[in-house]
Amino acid sequence: MGTPEPPDPHGGNLQAAARRLGCRPQQLLDASASLVPFGPPPRLRRHLIRALSSDLRDYPDRDYTALRDAIAAWHGLDPARVLPGNGAAELFTWAARDGAAAGLSLLPAPGFADYRRALDCWGGAWRQLPLPLDWSGAGPGPWPLAEAATNAAGSGAAVLWLTNPHNPTGQLWSRATLEPLLERFALVVVDEAFLPLVPGGEEQSLVPLLTDHPRLVVIRSLTKLFSIAGLRLGYALGDPGRLARWAAWRDPWPVNGLAAAAGRFLLADQA
Ligand SMILES: Cc1ncc(COP(=O)(O)O)c(C=O)c1O
Repeated sequence: MGTPEPPDPHGGNLQAAARRLGCRPQQLLDASASLVPFGPPPRLRRHLIRALSSDLRDYPDRDYTALRDAIAAWHGLDPARVLPGNGAAELFTWAARDGAAAGLSLLPAPGFADYRRALDCWGGAWRQLPLPLDWSGAGPGPWPLAEAATNAAGSGAAVLWLTNPHNPTGQLWSRATLEPLLERFALVVVDEAFLPLVPGGEEQSLVPLLTDHPRLVVIRSLTKLFSIAGLRLGYALGDPGRLARWAAWRDPWPVNGLAAAAGRFLLADQA
């Protein structure tokens, strides 16, 4: 008998689940990956078919200039503050390299497992901050760990990882209660992967604080909003020097040509 596969820390691994259950991946309804249920936009499918003729043969633009410009225009930022990535997950790896170098990371728990994966890549130290598990359900709410995080920062914690809205609880934290934390840590990584999906979410985004806070990094994913998890596309927003450093560390073409074409198309089409 073979060794059973360990449970996957992230859902959405349909192939492994199908192997375990002895069925085809297409026979499973996956409720574990939080993607919009509509499927990729039909106009994007048509665009990608055209992109097969224009974006498949050549290496992608190493600077992803057009994609950066489109993301920067979307957020009203300088393109130097944008770094596209192979999904948000790739960018957590680089955030974690900075985090591991800065010192102890605080991870609200329960929380998204990929931050631990990223920190473990670099031998980064981390500790969990337990979240209270009762809340009114109304959003945006105050971030409940301000005092615990401030105490931890006082005793040496250097990095804070936030998810807004939180995964797995869905809580939306208010910008007003997150902003004071930016002064207390050497690095604050804010994962806003699901923010565009939440009514009123963008009003709580920390993106408008980026220009005044070089220690803040915001990471966004396009895979949830547009149901393109298989394509892999996300981006980091932050200090230009930090993002240039990350770009120099990673491989030359982390975002493939079709994903870059999809990003340019989706962000140019505000509708
Ligand atoms: C909170 C959170 N951030 C980021 C991701 C990963 O995003 P991406 O598909 O862009 O790597 C996920 C995936 O489930 C997630 O739950």
